[in-house]
Amino acid sequence: SLIYVLNGPNLNLLGKRQPHIYGHETLADVEADCRRLASELGHDIRFHQSNREYEIIDWIHEAREDGAGIVINPAAFTHTSVAILDALNTFEQPVIEVHISNVHKREAFRHHSFVSHRADGVIAGLGTEGYQLAIRRVASLIMSAEK
Ligand code: DQA
Repeated sequence: SLIYVLNGPNLNLLGKRQPHIYGHETLADVEADCRRLASELGHDIRFHQSNREYEIIDWIHEAREDGAGIVINPAAFTHTSVAILDALNTFEQPVIEVHISNVHKREAFRHHSFVSHRADGVIAGLGTEGYQLAIRRVASLIMSAEK
């Protein structure tokens, strides 16, 4: 089946952006790792990034139409977007939220996540490896729902 991997604002600069916080891997590296793992697990991937909130909402709607699972790093929209939460609340398949950094170790404004009100699981502070673990979890939730 299908897994959407959705990335929010500024993640296009991954690898260049505050590497002491987010590491040196680029988003293209993350995408390649996600594609490799998904194909090992027998899943297809739609990998997207946008700096625009509405595009992320539209991809969530698309994932809903496709009956796909979602791995999402909403980036700064995590802490601001009721609209992304509402979109995820229209969605019934597995959702795992990923943060590269440990948001709980950082500024207080990063401690609250709107998306966590819906996510089935949250990964933070495991670097870009978090995406791999999130894909594994979405895949196993999809498999167990199919049984
Ligand atoms: C982030 C954490 C957010 O607080 C921040 O706004 C980001 C990236 C992370 O992956 O650690 O852009 O989601």
